[in-house]
Amino acid sequence: MKFKELGKTGALIPTIGMGTWKLGDGGQGGTLALKEGFRLGAKFVDTAEMYGTEHLVGKALIGEKEVFVATKVSPHHLSYDDVIRSCERSLKELGIRQIDLYQVHWPNKSIPIKETMRAMERLVDEGKIKYIGVSNFDIAEFEEAQAALSANEIVSNQVEYSVLVRDPETSGLLDYCKSNKITLIAYSPLVRGALRDRRYMDFVKILSEIGKEHDATDSQIALSWLLSKEQVVAVPKAGRIEHIRENVASADINLDADEIERIGKVAMRFKHNSVAGPFHNIMKRSSLPWSIHEMLPGNWKKGPH
Ligand SMILES: NC(=O)c1ccc[n+]([C@@H]2O[C@H](COP(=O)([O-])OP(=O)(O)OC[C@H]3O[C@@H](n4cnc5c(N)ncnc54)[C@H](OP(=O)(O)O)[C@@H]3O)[C@@H](O)[C@H]2O)c1
Repeated sequence: MKFKELGKTGALIPTIGMGTWKLGDGGQGGTLALKEGFRLGAKFVDTAEMYGTEHLVGKALIGEKEVFVATKVSPHHLSYDDVIRSCERSLKELGIRQIDLYQVHWPNKSIPIKETMRAMERLVDEGKIKYIGVSNFDIAEFEEAQAALSANEIVSNQVEYSVLVRDPETSGLLDYCKSNKITLIAYSPLVRGALRDRRYMDFVKILSEIGKEHDATDSQIALSWLLSKEQVVAVPKAGRIEHIRENVASADINLDADEIERIGKVAMRFKHNSVAGPFHNIMKRSSLPWSIHEMLPGNWKKGPH
């Protein structure tokens, strides 16, 4: 496993963490998969109160040491009191005393970010969380959130980024994170399984070619390409043990400059082909408060998490 500094904190985190959205508890899934990842050195797990998987993470954490635990407060829980309550609930579900990285899951324009960040700073002061992060924030939203903090820096922004979804590059967010030493946590780094989709076969042919050189799978090359970017770490989700093993091993693949460029060029041609794009943008730009989104049938099952 390789490590990168979290923001400017001096703390090192594994470059491959484990996502837990839709992680089940049956068969090989859930705690067994997470345990295997921890054993192999991916001691970094990402969850959210919205996923309903914090209790599974809590189970997997039993008997483990030094796992970096990241979770998120939901966008409809961003008032001062709700943030405090959500954090306390998450600590209980996770069975831990301190959350390493507490992230605002999505911005919510109907609640002033100052109020949210005041609660986040209280949680840091009380030792309930160690670092503050955000997710799905654009540069302007990030800067507004940072300006709302008095004594802490936001250490990370978790956004969708993969070989097929290149928005952080086109929006300037990746460069912004590099210049300001903010960790970019790439979510859906395996395009939610779409690399296996026949429709994308042409897009990912290049991954297979490069994979042959490294005795690696398409998914491993897709992950190692992300990790070749400064400030970027990734949180693939895998319920299958063999996938966990592959993903962890991808951290040790070193692509050369030519390979990185070849993948970059191919992916750039598909920059408008965002798998999550349309839904993501509707949710973010909509003026509906998040509490209403939450009530829409099936939203959290189908929508972006
Ligand atoms: N902050 C946000 O708003 C947000 C949004 C979305 C996701 N996330 C986070 O990011 C994590 C990952 O994103 P995601 O779950 O959307 O999708 P993802 O990690 O891009 O893809 C997950 C899919 O890829 C498959 N897979 C995993 N490893 C593989 C491998 N080595 N080879 C082939 N297939 C493989 C998994 O199968 P199996 O499960 O069968 O192994 C699953 O079907 C989430 O779990 C969550 O923690 C955050």
